[in-house]
Amino acid sequence: MAVLREVVSGDVDALQELIESDPGYAERVTGYPPGAADAQSLLMMRPEGLAEEGKRVLGVWEEGQLVAVVDLLRGYPVGHTAFIGLLEVHGEHRGRGVGAAAYGLAEEYVVREWPEVRTLRLAVVDTNAQQAQGFWEKLGFESTGESKAYEYDKLVSTSRLYEKQLLGEERGG
Ligand SMILES: CC(C)(COP(=O)(O)OP(=O)(O)OC[C@H]1O[C@@H](n2cnc3c(N)ncnc32)[C@H](O)[C@@H]1OP(=O)(O)O)[C@@H](O)C(=O)NCCC(=O)NCCS
Repeated sequence: MAVLREVVSGDVDALQELIESDPGYAERVTGYPPGAADAQSLLMMRPEGLAEEGKRVLGVWEEGQLVAVVDLLRGYPVGHTAFIGLLEVHGEHRGRGVGAAAYGLAEEYVVREWPEVRTLRLAVVDTNAQQAQGFWEKLGFESTGESKAYEYDKLVSTSRLYEKQLLGEERGG
């Protein structure tokens, strides 16, 4: 059975193992294979100005193994929005619904814990669009039409914004 539990600093090895199970993702969005400190960075990094308690790294655990991770930012870039920084499924657990389940659990978490949030937002980098765009569209995300220049060292691309409105009377949806 899959359970949602926050990924904390004591889980850094499990998180690093998940990241290294899928070197392709890092290569597509950075131009490099995963680095040894990527899990540590994922747990720590947050946009400037966002309070520490505004960041949650949630894990989907199956029989003690971390099979998916979702990085969530509360109130970013504005109060009623939460931003999905990353959703990644372990390389050996793809294609059997883990990603959709991880998203569903994360959405439930936001609805339950962050009542002011009405919109979920994320960015897809063009170099990763083949992996990510169809997945997010299946889950109800739509392009906002906004795009931003994306650069990571020598990798130059474009990131495109997607949003999903959380429905519910209490959220004004
Ligand atoms: C994208 C990712 C999360 C999908 O995880 P997954 O567990 O393989 O996806 P699921 O099995 O839950 O698929 C859910 C649905 O999305 C569809 N889907 C998944 N990947 C897709 C793709 N690349 N293109 C089109 N549809 C896709 C599936 O067919 C499935 O549809 P269905 O409900 O009709 O069967 C996974 O490939 C991953 O971790 N990629 C690397 C990280 C990444 O790119 N994350 C997204 C950017 S933040």
